[in-house]
Amino acid sequence: MDIKAENITVTIEGKDVLKGQSVHATPGETLAFVGPSGCGKTTLLNVLGLLRRVDGGQVHVGGRDATRWDDRRRRRFWQQHAAFVFQDYGLIDEESVEYNVALSQMPIFGLVKRHRAGIESALDRVGLVGRAGEKVSTLSGGEKQRVGLARAMFRSADVIFADEPTASLDLDNRNLVTLFLQEEAARGAAVIIATHDEALIKACDVSLRLGSAVVAKPRLANPAEGYSD
Ligand SMILES: Nc1ncnc2c1ncn2[C@@H]1O[C@H](COP(=O)(O)OP(=O)(O)O)[C@@H](O)[C@H]1O
Ligand SMILES: [Mg+2]
Repeated sequence: MDIKAENITVTIEGKDVLKGQSVHATPGETLAFVGPSGCGKTTLLNVLGLLRRVDGGQVHVGGRDATRWDDRRRRRFWQQHAAFVFQDYGLIDEESVEYNVALSQMPIFGLVKRHRAGIESALDRVGLVGRAGEKVSTLSGGEKQRVGLARAMFRSADVIFADEPTASLDLDNRNLVTLFLQEEAARGAAVIIATHDEALIKACDVSLRLGSAVVAKPRLANPAEGYSD
């Protein structure tokens, strides 16, 4: 399923966070939004994921104009096609890892064997094997993000949205997550990533550098140097 944004403008408190931005995400491809903090990466990700309305331009999802889809149609898109890997977003802290991976596909009478096997293999892929029963509230930030990845895999989402998916991970897990996102694209997902991780950017098929940051703060010569994640 491809997602296309044309001439997007988003204005927040009088300033244009995005102005005339166009982008096309296609199945089988990893696409990275890059640029310094505050340049609008997360905002553009939210626009493509239909989580934020635009002040100008159009968003097309699978060839359809989704710019003004109502809540019902957007919810259908989120449930049937999309997976979001955002920090502090979309996980239910008081539920188990397993529940969160299966979320929205959880059968009313509980998990059957087939689901359990799928969940275990997804957790295995993201380095969380044997953790299915743990409460999400007890996990670290990086582990929570990987629960989000496992969910994306379990759901075989057509589009994966990942906001700084390698932030707060050590090198081994950054490599694991990078490989995971590439493999999801290889099975046919459109993978859209906001990141300032240089290694992840290099691993992506396409990168889109967003315009100059709208927040006035000193710039580092190399943006990657400023972040310890
Ligand atoms: N809800 C909001 N209220 C006020 N300003 C916002 C909001 N969301 C984003 N912004 C501003 O929009 C700009 C882009 O933000 P964001 O998309 O989060 O950038 P990035 O992800 O590249 O760091 C920033 O200046 C940010 O402060
Ligand atoms: Mg951001």
